[in-house]
Amino acid sequence: MYKLATSLALLGIMFFSCQQGETSKEQPTTLLSDYYTEHHRPQAHFSPEKMWMNDPNGMVYYEGEYHLFYQHYPDGDVWGPMHWGHAISTDMLHWEHLPIALYPDSLGYIFSGSAVVDENNTAGFQTGEEKALVAIYTYHDTAGEKAGTNDFQTQGIAYSNDKGRTWTKYEGNPVIPSPGIKDFRDPKVFWHEESSQWVMILAVKDRVHLYQSANLKEWTFASEFGADQGSHGGVWECPDLFELPIEGTDETRWLMIVSLGSGGPNGGSGTMYFVGDFDGSLFTNANTADEVLWLDYGKDNYAGVTWSDVPEADGRRIFLGWMSNWQYATKVPTRPWRSAMTLPRVLSFVQTEGGLRLKQAVVAEMEGLRGLKSDLGAREVAGELDQTGEIEFDPDLSEMKVHFRWEAETAPQTLGIMLSNALGEQVKLGLDLAGGQYFVDRRQAGKMDFSEAFPGLHLAPAKQLSNEMTLEVFWDHASVELLAEEGLTVMTDNFFPNERFTKLAFFTEGGKAEMTQAELYQLEGVWAKP
Ligand code: FRU
Repeated sequence: MYKLATSLALLGIMFFSCQQGETSKEQPTTLLSDYYTEHHRPQAHFSPEKMWMNDPNGMVYYEGEYHLFYQHYPDGDVWGPMHWGHAISTDMLHWEHLPIALYPDSLGYIFSGSAVVDENNTAGFQTGEEKALVAIYTYHDTAGEKAGTNDFQTQGIAYSNDKGRTWTKYEGNPVIPSPGIKDFRDPKVFWHEESSQWVMILAVKDRVHLYQSANLKEWTFASEFGADQGSHGGVWECPDLFELPIEGTDETRWLMIVSLGSGGPNGGSGTMYFVGDFDGSLFTNANTADEVLWLDYGKDNYAGVTWSDVPEADGRRIFLGWMSNWQYATKVPTRPWRSAMTLPRVLSFVQTEGGLRLKQAVVAEMEGLRGLKSDLGAREVAGELDQTGEIEFDPDLSEMKVHFRWEAETAPQTLGIMLSNALGEQVKLGLDLAGGQYFVDRRQAGKMDFSEAFPGLHLAPAKQLSNEMTLEVFWDHASVELLAEEGLTVMTDNFFPNERFTKLAFFTEGGKAEMTQAELYQLEGVWAKP
């Protein structure tokens, strides 16, 4: 009895301290009823059970399972010796954590990379019925780095013959030695059907290199791209390259994604893209060299790449990014984990007046998380219109599709949606009509003294303005993903309120608008205790 009472009390204390965000590192999270309920813990997004996470890695689909590997330091909640953490899912939303897939070895830490299904056993790793999954990653040799050399990043491969459950590193590693360039990393590999070969895109300092291979083991340099293209506000990292359909046509173009270590659109790290053609050897940019197209204008979407081997019958190209920013990623006030991924998003091209642009849509599987629904009819918004009583759920774990319309004569300067709490902390987002830009304002969002780079009003230029707009928004305790202009303008941002946001309001400043329709859904969390 005494024992039971003490354990209950202990559980109570642990639960309370988790609510306060003070969970100790040693806490066996899986044993408690507080699984994934800590303050700021995302409910609909992937985050590691505990400790540090950065880039998504090795995203590959095989036999009904989406694999997600990720940059992981299992012994600390800041960046450190990198491993590949691992999780699987059938819908990219409900995840099962699996043991760490790749550990550092004598060649170095395991940095970012990709994975493919070796359908034709080109590497010869397949032993049984299951196709071999092959991971291609960067080795980062800290000894070499400390010794001041410049050849400490090389590329290695590993394979699995049991659907990704266990991995063997190839004895011939590294498969690509360093050419003596410090930043030489993040291989993304794909099978190029037309030329029947593997192609690797690799980030090399301020550009990308393309390599070709018949067997994933021997690689030949093919071309480079980017020294005089796009932005060079930071080092290039985590590239991706693939063919993508143009909506409403039978045509395709190629999309190259490149993450930029600093110099993002609202400061810190960001992700840009190029539209063009690829012939198996060479990528050519369809736009002018100095044009910079940003994939996301929020501050928290970095190092994102797409799933490999999604079946043709499905046909989607699905993206996932790391929902943080190197400016403050190691300092955000979450415990016992750090960082989450974005929601998975389907990519496509849309023909706009300015040329082909990338469109993002949250995967349809997300509808499976919809709970209670509130349909709000038309109402005038002039100033702040509190809607808290109109919905039966907390707005900070919800999906919203809100349509606004306004008259030219009485048009507001800004309008949008605001979540707030009783402490007066708030996040506002919407359209700055006067400035022609969408925004997310987290300047009063709660905790932010952990980094000067955190507070901010983030802006995204509108592609076109009219007298109406629809905002599609996904809130998840500590993050918001805003898809404006039907997914052509996207902003992803974190925030850390001291208390949860329970209030919802629509607002205008300097004029009025009509909120013609709002479809709001509560979202259900994905983290059941295993
Ligand atoms: C991007 C990145 C990659 C690297 C990894 C190391 O966030 O810097 O370039 O492989 O993180 O963790």
